[in-house]
Amino acid sequence: VGWTEDGVAVALLDQSRLPLEEVILRLEAAAEVAEAIRSLRVRGAPAIGVAAAYGVALGMSGAGDGWPTHLQSLLSLFRGTRPTGRNLFQVLERLEAVGAAMAGASGPEVARALRTEAERVREEDAVACRSIGEAGVKLLPPEGAVVLTHCNAGALATGGVGTALAPVYLARERGIPVEVVACEARPVLQGSRLTAWELMRAGVPVTLITDGMAGARMAVGGISAVVVGADRIAADGSTANKVGTYALALLAREHGIPFYVAAPATTVDLSIPDGRGIRVEERAPAEVRGFGGGGTAPPGVAVWNPAFDITPPELITAFITDGGVIRPPFAPGLHALASPVDRSRP
Ligand code: MRU
Repeated sequence: VGWTEDGVAVALLDQSRLPLEEVILRLEAAAEVAEAIRSLRVRGAPAIGVAAAYGVALGMSGAGDGWPTHLQSLLSLFRGTRPTGRNLFQVLERLEAVGAAMAGASGPEVARALRTEAERVREEDAVACRSIGEAGVKLLPPEGAVVLTHCNAGALATGGVGTALAPVYLARERGIPVEVVACEARPVLQGSRLTAWELMRAGVPVTLITDGMAGARMAVGGISAVVVGADRIAADGSTANKVGTYALALLAREHGIPFYVAAPATTVDLSIPDGRGIRVEERAPAEVRGFGGGGTAPPGVAVWNPAFDITPPELITAFITDGGVIRPPFAPGLHALASPVDRSRP
């Protein structure tokens, strides 16, 4: 996500067309950015936050005296895009605070400030990804690692090198032999379309399996760790991530494989005590009934299509975060990571 060369539109790689086509979209209105989020042209919790920040800044360009009302309607436009990922709401709260601190300023001044803030959101996410990588690489066996992952929690899903894939990229940088087993992530196939694509481009060996093959692959042996990303982490460590994650956590426990969740502080939601409070997005039945315009099920068959599931904290070995590795009990560590720092104190 970034600005187009002329600086008047948002440029975004259309992930819904990968791996067949690499198309950079030129989005000229906030509503187009919101649509891109809804239709998974940009996806992955941190990347959604970054895109929304750019979308709000874009929508505010040209704002006049009525900017406070306009800003509120932009914030609610983006709040209505996807409900589960915490990062989106964290970013919108941040942009709202920028506006609140500028009462009395002109529309163009606020628009400029929001543009700067959007760039900060992206830069800070890139730094957070790097820190996750630094913390995570220490958990991988230095003689060589095989990491099983789900969905896409790599560079495509963030403003940097990714969350779950950050330790993989850092291991590679440091000459540690590392390979990835990627689950395809039905129904939208972020694993096969995106994770396999970005790892192959980076020269990281990757083997694709269907989601149902994960147990068989673990039983064969040699998986060093399961590392996944997160869309929202409750105060007790309950983690919403791409549907299928919970089953992987159960399988990992059965096979004695460490199960790590890699995420920045911006994914943690201390206002939700446990997994029961996390709203899981349900998406259109068409995603399950077929793919790429072709049907894979009888038309009209009943479908349940939750985009995420919740992994309980007792199945998680540790969180790999931008504030370091957090081990059980998770509540104190997550609290310290995500609580706003009181900078007025020495
Ligand atoms: O529906 P998506 O593709 O937005 O879901 C993405 C995931 O579940 C990722 O694992 C999660 O956002 C972590 S991304 C760093």
